[in-house]
Amino acid sequence: MAKREIVDRETSIMLDRVLEAIDLTGGYSITVNDTPAYVDAVSNVSFYARNNEVLGIAGESGCGKSTLLKILYGFTRAPLVVKKGKVVLRANEQSIDILAVKDRTSVWWKYISYIPQNSMNVLNPLQRIRDHFIETISTHMNVDRDEAYNIARDYVENVGLSKEVLNAYPHQLSGGMRQRIVIALALMLRPRVVLADEPTTAVDVVVQRGVLQMLLDKQRELKNTLIVVTHDMGVQAMVTNRILIMYAGKGVELGATNDTFENPLHPYTKALIESLPRIGDKTLRKGLAGHPPDLINPPPGCRFHPRCPYAMDVCRREEPPIIEIDKEKFVSCWLYVKR
Ligand SMILES: Nc1ncnc2c1ncn2[C@@H]1O[C@H](COP(=O)(O)OP(=O)(O)OP(=O)(O)O)[C@@H](O)[C@H]1O
Ligand SMILES: [Mg+2]
Repeated sequence: MAKREIVDRETSIMLDRVLEAIDLTGGYSITVNDTPAYVDAVSNVSFYARNNEVLGIAGESGCGKSTLLKILYGFTRAPLVVKKGKVVLRANEQSIDILAVKDRTSVWWKYISYIPQNSMNVLNPLQRIRDHFIETISTHMNVDRDEAYNIARDYVENVGLSKEVLNAYPHQLSGGMRQRIVIALALMLRPRVVLADEPTTAVDVVVQRGVLQMLLDKQRELKNTLIVVTHDMGVQAMVTNRILIMYAGKGVELGATNDTFENPLHPYTKALIESLPRIGDKTLRKGLAGHPPDLINPPPGCRFHPRCPYAMDVCRREEPPIIEIDKEKFVSCWLYVKR
């Protein structure tokens, strides 16, 4: 292949990586019994998300999923600190180093948006829903309030909500409806990347379907990238193209979702998948024994070694590298390191 072609292909591969996390490391600076401590919540995490894909992030409670999303968004307020790493957003032929941008509101909503965990409670209770929309529209578009209201009215109907909701106060609406409103707000300015943290956990199963459908319909329409955190592996299997598995602040496996479910590589992923109920199988699924480690004092070597049935000496001593084991299939485990 001619050199020029190779360079072009590399450029297009890079451009396809709309969001790239490079060696992200961050956590919480806190005090425990009057002594300063650090919660090592996200440690050397590297991955990329592609244009037009749904990327899932999964792992047990406390493994750092929300912290990772906050860092990706550049929502870094005390006690959260970023120690190392970079988040690169490639949009509109620009490459934006999110953590280096001084005024992050210049990239938020327009290029990247964030639906926080428990976000149905983030709406200002004193403001009608229409004011939430009008504020967002008039901050980012050069229009007056009347025009902003018209845009909001058309938009809420476009996402399948009735325009009546615009007149309501948040407390007059159900949790599911408020969740849909937060999602609608996050998607309104057509961001290239949407970060959604457990968007369906606080709503019942029927409402869940509507919330997911709304996120997926918009993703298809905008052909953008949805990064969705959920510990619900059923939802992961249903909606994501690729999945990143986290354990105790580390990215331990990343690959196509189907492949990860059919052929999990990391012992933690295996345990996670094996513990899922299967249709027709009446045997009791065994969960993973033990507890995740305390992130103030994580174990040396591989953080999973105290619970790992395959742990070897090296696992107790040294952190495993991240290996690309197959095309676009990454795992961080000593079992797969040729030595
Ligand atoms: N504000 C905070 N101050 C101190 N520690 C925190 C804070 N927020 C989170 N942590 C700790 O950081 C670690 C990662 O938490 P995080 O909320 O990112 O996990 P998670 O994977 O999102 O969990 P969940 O599934 O329960 O939402 C945990 O040990 C948690 O206790
Ligand atoms: Mg969380």
